[in-house]
Amino acid sequence: MSTKRRIKKKNLSIFIIILLIILIPFGLYYYDNTKVSRSLKKLSYNKEVIPLIIKEKIDKYLIDNKIYSKTLEMALLDDLYEDDLLEEYIDFEYKDYDNYIKQLNTLFEIGYDKETNEIIFDKLNEDDINTLIKQKDIINNIDKYIEADYFRMDNLNRYLNYKNKNNDYDYNKVVIDVNMYLDYPYYEHDIKVTNPDDLLVIVNKYYKLSGTFEPKKLVKIDTKYRDNWERLVVPIVKENFEKMADDMSKLGLSIKVTSAYRAYDVQDQLYKENVIKLGKKQADSVSARAGYSEHQTGLAVDVKNALNDYKFFKDSEEYKWMRDNAHKYGFILRYPEDKTDITGYNFESWHYRYVGKEVAKIIHDNDLTFDEYYAIYIDKKKTD
Ligand code: DAL
Ligand code: ZN
Repeated sequence: MSTKRRIKKKNLSIFIIILLIILIPFGLYYYDNTKVSRSLKKLSYNKEVIPLIIKEKIDKYLIDNKIYSKTLEMALLDDLYEDDLLEEYIDFEYKDYDNYIKQLNTLFEIGYDKETNEIIFDKLNEDDINTLIKQKDIINNIDKYIEADYFRMDNLNRYLNYKNKNNDYDYNKVVIDVNMYLDYPYYEHDIKVTNPDDLLVIVNKYYKLSGTFEPKKLVKIDTKYRDNWERLVVPIVKENFEKMADDMSKLGLSIKVTSAYRAYDVQDQLYKENVIKLGKKQADSVSARAGYSEHQTGLAVDVKNALNDYKFFKDSEEYKWMRDNAHKYGFILRYPEDKTDITGYNFESWHYRYVGKEVAKIIHDNDLTFDEYYAIYIDKKKTD
């Protein structure tokens, strides 16, 4: 072989070696990457996210621990991945709405811990979480409020203020009290009653009837079951009251209506007389101001037994019977002895409100006031 050819061959070998040196790592890298891709694909990651997983250098971790996370996948695809939240993405189940990852990032950024965020995502909907985020600062014990029965995000700031003023109240009480508006002083937060003819209308120291409201139809209670005055109620109340009174008389018990429908002006007069007699504070605990009395709805009756004034009704056999049975006819004791903090009225053993049998049973069996029932079952969050 000539020297020229030998040199040529040597150059070729060098060239091939250099080429191999350059190509082998590429080849290995390519081989490795397809292996990684295959493994990630097997874990269910989609094609577009795989390069992003590799770029963030979390591929080995995911493969070794056999982790698939839709939340992580979406964080990467939406370009919202924060590397210090890797574990959180993995642990939080994906929720299928646009802002989910952003919300997750923001809640951690605000400073809520993992347990709290789990509760937040478990109990709140997307809008509620947005509202919470808008508060910007961390809210201590937010989980306790959220987990309280009947929590409503729209009342959050009122819960916080009320709890601040009443530190000894537990979170359930705070939530239900505020839902009933008890964080406002009586008569300082009027809500106009818009359904005054409804059987489940609420009238109390917050819900006010208009001065002109009169029930559509009023009928007289039978003379057998009233005192010496004409007593008017709406027809369904007459029907059920008289049925109850009939059944009571079969047992030797006797009740008579001593007050029923009271027009706005009559109530006004009555309240003013009470103020003169008792002073304003005392009058407010026994008598409703005009517009705030459920007597104006024709759905309430005051009763006495045949012998005594209504004020002694609590000592009668009739009261004992009604306490256990009135709900079967659709009536509830409206101002119970142990609920004066809620109703704002002293115990009235004589005042019964018609709500229908079904609701009366719930109220009776669960030892509720109508105010609590209303806050729990009727005045729920509008978007429920
Ligand atoms: N005594 C009741 C509260 C009323 O005046 O309506
Ligand atoms: Zn009454």
